[in-house]
Amino acid sequence: MKHTDWYKDAIIYQIYPRSFKDSNADGFGDIPGIISKLDYLKQLGINCIWLSPVYDSPQEDNGYDIANYYDIYPPFGTLDDMKTLIKKAHEKGIRIIMDLVVNHTSNQHRWFQEALKNKNSPYRNYYIFKKGKNNGKKPPNNWTGFFGGSTWEKENPNSDEYYLHLFAKGQPDLNWENEKVREEVINILRFWLDLGVDGFRCDVITLISKKQDFKNRFPKLALTGKDAYINGPRLHEYLHELYVKAYADYDCMTVGETVLSSLKQAKNLVDPKRQELDMVFNFDHTDTDNYFGVKYLKAKFKVKKLRKVIQRWQDGLYQKGWNSLFIENHDQRRSVGRFGTCDQKYRVESSKMLATFYFFLQGTPFIYQGQEIGTTNAYFKSIDEIKDVEAKNMYALSQKNKLIGLLIKKYIFEVSRDNARIPMAWDDSSYGGFSSVKPWIRMNSNYEKINVKNAINDSNSVFYYYQKIIEIRKKYPVIKDGKYITILKHSNSIFAYLRKDKKHTLLALTNFKNKNIKLTKKLNLCDYKLLISNYMENDDNYLKPYEARVYLKEN
Ligand code: GLC
Repeated sequence: MKHTDWYKDAIIYQIYPRSFKDSNADGFGDIPGIISKLDYLKQLGINCIWLSPVYDSPQEDNGYDIANYYDIYPPFGTLDDMKTLIKKAHEKGIRIIMDLVVNHTSNQHRWFQEALKNKNSPYRNYYIFKKGKNNGKKPPNNWTGFFGGSTWEKENPNSDEYYLHLFAKGQPDLNWENEKVREEVINILRFWLDLGVDGFRCDVITLISKKQDFKNRFPKLALTGKDAYINGPRLHEYLHELYVKAYADYDCMTVGETVLSSLKQAKNLVDPKRQELDMVFNFDHTDTDNYFGVKYLKAKFKVKKLRKVIQRWQDGLYQKGWNSLFIENHDQRRSVGRFGTCDQKYRVESSKMLATFYFFLQGTPFIYQGQEIGTTNAYFKSIDEIKDVEAKNMYALSQKNKLIGLLIKKYIFEVSRDNARIPMAWDDSSYGGFSSVKPWIRMNSNYEKINVKNAINDSNSVFYYYQKIIEIRKKYPVIKDGKYITILKHSNSIFAYLRKDKKHTLLALTNFKNKNIKLTKKLNLCDYKLLISNYMENDDNYLKPYEARVYLKEN
């Protein structure tokens, strides 16, 4: 079968399975739970699901640590449940993409266990083992990883060798230099593609190739050594190999999570001629409210910064590649209440405004579970409420280093990934209809108000706004193919743009401030037809707090 570009018409909904819907009263979401909500997703209008990992795993990093790529973690269900999900989703016109986590495995994976047991095992070379310095007393180099601290862990107290882990200790990095490892990955891909999945979200894919000198690097506040382990020398070669040996035979799509990659690098990754990836997730826009991409170094959000980033990516990939569009995922805190918006008085307006801001850009929109009802952060108050390994590691680090510790402690509750990971609120019953028993992590304290049932019963809800913008996206080709043009370039409050093709001009206006903002006369709004707004009444002279409007005219 041919590899086509169906993904350009996709509206993708990300499910974080452990927190979506529990069907068997164990407080943990599962695949049958997802199946029971397919009609809800159909009603929303999405046509593709990205499933965060459901593979067998000890769950040190909530499934991003895989122990067996060919089976399902029992609390999620069985392989048969997965087959049923694929079949039922396809019957409803919904495709399924899976998370592909192959930069590392779990330390419980058979390959790693074999590697530990026997230094002469062929599996030893599946991972990156190096001798420590000072006869093994110190790690092989000074690299630091994504969850804080050294990237090296001693394999056991009596050995002088360490293994590389860019994430948690339970996530040893695979050695992609080893051809056997690449063959294994190709087999995994083909196994799932043969089962009917429609593609993959490739986890931290820009880390798979490492510079092989493994020398010390200049120390940094975070991610010392990143120039050696991000965008490594053989990245493009490896991705092309996967494409040729797996993807090319299927009508599937790939979206790579490209941590700290520039637009220049992304252009190569998604250039169709090179046959590597279809899309990438870049994080330049989610980094507009921090310094140096470090979420604990919080910065004031500025519309101007956001405009620059969006323009760069929209122009940069126009007719060269394809953008992915998102404002939330399982690693980010909730968007409402972020980017200058409000999750209290103006929660509904803010959620709809943010939806408008990104949905009319060029690219494939992703919606993260709960985003479609304007779910807020969890407002954690104590570290004991938090389950995420990243937050826990950072917290432990904060005990050791006073200065970094102050920053971490100040923001940990606000930026913790668990904000997006608490269970989906389906209704106002106990545990929000997510489960009939106490969930693995607490519910949001506002679930009795912000839940799917209330959203469905309120014609003015965020849910129906998403439903409508999805319909609009499907209707007008200018949203898919039109050229992006920035307008109101100097505004500190309004993010506005045009999309233009031969037939239509679309105009999107979004106010990121909680006050009225004057509109300039030059916009000539009377030439346009209003397609959607988050307010019932609009004034041509100004935008209300967090107001959003989308207009269309024939050229
Ligand atoms: C990606 C995932 C994140 C995970 C990490 C390690 O960034 O999105 O959740 O912790 O990779 O696999």
